[in-house]
Amino acid sequence: MNSQFVPGIDYRGLVAQHGSPLLILDQAAIRRQYRALSAALPGVTLHYALKPLPHMGVVDVLKAEGANFDLATNGEVDLMREAGINPNECIHTHPIKRDSDIRYALDYGCNIFVFDNPVELQKFVAYKQQARLLLRVSFPNPETKVDLSKKFGCTPEMVLPLLQQAKALGIEVIGLSFHVGSQVPNAKRHVEAIEACNELLRQAEAQDLALQVLDIGGGFPVDYAGGELDIDAFCAPIRSALAKTPEGIRLLAEPGRFISAPAMTSISSVMGKAERFGRTWYYLDDGLYGSYSGQLFDHVFYPKSTPYAKGERHPAVLAGPTCDSVDVIAEEIMLPELELGELVIGKMMGAYTWASATEFNFFRRTSILVMDSDATALKAVA
Ligand SMILES: Cc1ncc(COP(=O)(O)O)c(C=O)c1O
Repeated sequence: MNSQFVPGIDYRGLVAQHGSPLLILDQAAIRRQYRALSAALPGVTLHYALKPLPHMGVVDVLKAEGANFDLATNGEVDLMREAGINPNECIHTHPIKRDSDIRYALDYGCNIFVFDNPVELQKFVAYKQQARLLLRVSFPNPETKVDLSKKFGCTPEMVLPLLQQAKALGIEVIGLSFHVGSQVPNAKRHVEAIEACNELLRQAEAQDLALQVLDIGGGFPVDYAGGELDIDAFCAPIRSALAKTPEGIRLLAEPGRFISAPAMTSISSVMGKAERFGRTWYYLDDGLYGSYSGQLFDHVFYPKSTPYAKGERHPAVLAGPTCDSVDVIAEEIMLPELELGELVIGKMMGAYTWASATEFNFFRRTSILVMDSDATALKAVA
């Protein structure tokens, strides 16, 4: 296994200076991923979905790249405001909001929202002079563990009736959106959803309900086995489907994971070890309640390495620091003998990791050290 995330990075030196555990965010990787997806989806405006890694170190570099943003909560509004992002470059994509959430986003200046049902639509009667809506359509996807259409989106059959209702209420719906699930194995469901939406856009126009936007959501995957996913090849069928979208429709996407996952590396240290049930258990200072939370919530196993440990490998257990028995990162992992203080590196840990970490047992959320391997300079600890 490749033990280095950025060639030459001195994990021990970083821990000596900043303590353990640590997360290292490489802005160069964010930049690289954003550029690769932009090139693979020409003509599609990318709104980085903040949820997988809502951190200023990501926002800053994407702002410099000219990216747009997808926000969904008041905290994410605050982050955009603090970063000085133009609210016209943001869309608010949470299909279910409180009235106060709508007002909070409008007060910031973000005026594009998502709805998927009549109750949510009613909430916009009071804001119909300012707000414009995208109607989220559900396209269930059994091929992913994160099937967001289980929770959100109207059926394709409901689209025209909901557009009619909005028109009757005087609320402007500007387009359709969908999310075919996160970390999809192939682009099949994106293509099916685009084809279905292309047809719905035509039907809407025929009924004098013309729309201007199609938002194809997120879902763009990464390779958690440690390789690099060919995003251009992945997007080729999506490009073909979008080529058939009716003339004049503006295209958006809300990529999250693809942009942030490869950009963050975890460094944790062995804080204890014990022999139990014929295995050596290594207890790390970060775990499932912390930076490895995505293992539970996002169903992902991250590539791990022990770059400084030498010697024969034995089956071992890697556990987190909390008192809970669920806090086990790997039950059957082949590792060399690790001494107390030895470092364990987790890669591809930028999406749905730190963002969903808890502070259970008062283990504080791990600090993020921002660097830019293009500039070879460490920036700040946040
Ligand atoms: C509305 C919305 N947009 C975008 C995303 C980002 O998806 P992904 O990380 O799969 O690209 C999510 C993820 O939950 C989402 O809920």
